[in-house]
Amino acid sequence: MSATQPVDESVRVRVPAKINLSLAVGPARPDGYHDLATVFQAVSLHDELTATWAPPGEVVVRTVGPYADRVADDEDNLACRAARLLMNRHGDGGAWGAHLLVDKGIPVAGGMAGGSADAAGALLACAALWDLDLSPADLRELGAELGADVPFPLLGGTAVGTNRGDELVPVLGRGCFHWVLALSDEGLSTPEVFARFDELDTDPDAPRVPDELLAALGTGEATELAGRLHNDLTAAACDLRPDLARTLELGTRYGALASLLSGSGPTVAFLTAGESQAMDLAHTLRGELGTDAVRRVRGPVSGAKLLQVLR
Ligand code: C5P
Repeated sequence: MSATQPVDESVRVRVPAKINLSLAVGPARPDGYHDLATVFQAVSLHDELTATWAPPGEVVVRTVGPYADRVADDEDNLACRAARLLMNRHGDGGAWGAHLLVDKGIPVAGGMAGGSADAAGALLACAALWDLDLSPADLRELGAELGADVPFPLLGGTAVGTNRGDELVPVLGRGCFHWVLALSDEGLSTPEVFARFDELDTDPDAPRVPDELLAALGTGEATELAGRLHNDLTAAACDLRPDLARTLELGTRYGALASLLSGSGPTVAFLTAGESQAMDLAHTLRGELGTDAVRRVRGPVSGAKLLQVLR
């Protein structure tokens, strides 16, 4: 690739949010992480990221959209760090640069891997912009260096995650599940939730993904899945944010099949029997929680995707 690309060359990608259908957490490890056994599902809430050719060595990010004011557009932004990692690892003597525009649809610090989705999007978009010959597995490997949740949005669908949650095996499930999400105005810090988990449970079991959950995914039936959803971080998140217990209870009161904390929270996901039930529940919850706090999504959806390449 030459160092003199037209400045208006750009690549646009779309990256999904995730929820965890089950999240089992083991003891704290010496590296500051926890062993996890989790099942991710990508859901239809997305960030869109546009990478435009920029002067050599320049990587800058600008975030727009409803959550933009909660994101720092600085060097520590995960999308910036992802582009720099790619440049340093596969760079052409500092000949490349990128302007990244992130249109954020995924809540910030919501337990839905929003920051990780932007890192994933930056890897995919910059690899395409700079014309790098990297496989999806190469990108996921780089992603794991940036954060435990970065590889999954690249893969999408439904997948088991082990180790820190970054070693993925796709799950061959059936059907499409309809979820209603209750979002929070205020985020929760993932390290703080894990730290509270350690305080509450000093001797957790080795984490595992229950066979019953995988079997339920195989049926494609929401009623089968409902009884298998589980998140070990629920008590810790509710301890830090007592209002979450009420939100979890709200969904089942208004007809959801099950309520589930997403990742380290505070987003709560309600599983419904189908699209019309999800519409009804979303309508009711909007009355209780406000229009902006409720989203209807489906899953699984595909992982990070190239939408447009403009040359
Ligand atoms: O990898 P990432 O930067 O997204 O992780 C954020 C924090 O979440 C980690 O620093 C750690 O405190 C916690 N975490 C953990 N175990 C994991 C994943 C995340 O303790 N498997």
